[in-house]
Amino acid sequence: MKKLIELAKENAKNAYVPYSHFPVSAVLELKNGEIYKGVNIENAAYGLANCAERSALFAAYSNGVKKEQIKRIVVYTDHDYFVSPCGSCRQVMRELMEEESQVILANNLGEVKILRNVDLLPFGFTKEDL
Ligand code: THU
Repeated sequence: MKKLIELAKENAKNAYVPYSHFPVSAVLELKNGEIYKGVNIENAAYGLANCAERSALFAAYSNGVKKEQIKRIVVYTDHDYFVSPCGSCRQVMRELMEEESQVILANNLGEVKILRNVDLLPFGFTKEDL
């Protein structure tokens, strides 16, 4: 866990945040120990910003990863408080990660908050509803 948080912290420097100046970094760990990293990537057309959580998940899926392989995701921000994943990321994590997978929030005080994916989106809309 400590190593994952260190990786996430180091990776925050790759965030492309010329508008918000609010770097976020996410590290996805597979059950076999493999790692996929993501950062938030913004755009002059503001609405096109992609959050760190989705960047990490899309990087993993783009390389053939399936939800059953994913163990947990660490989300790091360089603040003394916890940053909570946005609604869009909750929806995407609900679909692309298992219900029981951990979503771990980490801040610059070394504190962590461990959440269950399914708890971040109560009564969520899923493909079972289609
Ligand atoms: N952001 C993330 O990358 N993840 C979150 O969990 C919250 C928000 C990004 C989006 C945008 O680039 C910046 O943070 C400010 O909203």
